[in-house]
Amino acid sequence: MTRLTRADLEALPSYVPGRNVADLARELGIAEAIKLASNEVPYGPLPGVPEAVAEAVAAAHRYPDMGVLALRDKLADRYGVAADRIVTGCGSVALAEILAKTTCLPGDEILYSWRSFEAYPIVTAGVGAASVRVPNTPGHGHDLRAMADAITERTRLAFVCNPNNPTGTAVRAADIDRFLDAVPSDVLVVLDEAYREFVTDAEVPDALTRYGDRPNVVVLRTLSKAWGLAGLRIGFLVAQPEVATAVRKVLTPFSTSLVAQAAAIAALDAGDEVRRRCALVVAERQRVTEGLRKLSVEVPDSQANFVWLPLGERSAEFGAACEGRGVIVRPFQPDGVRVTIGTPEENDAFLAAAEAALT
Ligand SMILES: Cc1ncc(COP(=O)(O)O)c(C=O)c1O
Repeated sequence: MTRLTRADLEALPSYVPGRNVADLARELGIAEAIKLASNEVPYGPLPGVPEAVAEAVAAAHRYPDMGVLALRDKLADRYGVAADRIVTGCGSVALAEILAKTTCLPGDEILYSWRSFEAYPIVTAGVGAASVRVPNTPGHGHDLRAMADAITERTRLAFVCNPNNPTGTAVRAADIDRFLDAVPSDVLVVLDEAYREFVTDAEVPDALTRYGDRPNVVVLRTLSKAWGLAGLRIGFLVAQPEVATAVRKVLTPFSTSLVAQAAAIAALDAGDEVRRRCALVVAERQRVTEGLRKLSVEVPDSQANFVWLPLGERSAEFGAACEGRGVIVRPFQPDGVRVTIGTPEENDAFLAAAEAALT
């Protein structure tokens, strides 16, 4: 048969979404399953969001504002950056793709730590670039010295995922400072801070305030996690104006929907509630970590809304055992299992499933 699609995509692993709860509940014959597999916050949309969505839908027959002006102004205000440096997109994963498109031609290299966010290999292959993966440290974090050493003249983009998905570890300011000083000025460094709102370690920097002015740094944020808009697909990046302008040239037109723009504006007015929810997540993160350590699992300290169980070859089996008890987690065979922090009741159900699986 004539080849219609690129041969190299055959070897590319597909993005694996967390399993559907309704399917699992049906399969097990239980009323409800629990999903702790996609790093959402479990407390529903923020106050004001459902109303803003309902109102926006009335104009859904019209295209959205392609310039995303009202939302970019709101973000600019909140984060203290000029609006012309902000680009929004259909989730920060789409912006990661666009950044690859903005920087790379086939044969160029994209550098990242591994294991890290599973979309990085996909966006890299999407533009025909080569993935350069630097193994995580024995403590499951980024090895920024080794990453700096792995830069070649073909490197165009480096992702630093902080905190790292799926291990929850975070790199601190001194290490990032050193890394950024070592990176050539023509390599774009993307500091992916999807989980920034859950960080409690004072030495883990807010990249917007500490590195925002560096010409070759882009900060990537999402409204999917702490801000509760995963289903509406909205993220943003902050870059120097020249980089932002180049990004806009290859951005899919109208990719921040009218409803997502309205929802994000409403969500950003609920900052106090976000802080309250993040505090609940952080307290539960501590409790789940301690519960797992009592079961003799080595759990790295997490700065995100999930924990990492480095179970190696046993990861898939552990995931299946949890599913058998109605709790969907996210195994990354053969490295480990990522478990999102849910409500206290959900976390209790997970800890009970983990105990049954591990003892
Ligand atoms: C590190 C990291 N970056 C980006 C994203 C993408 O989030 P979204 O596309 O929902 O904004 C995720 C989602 O899981 C993530 O873990």
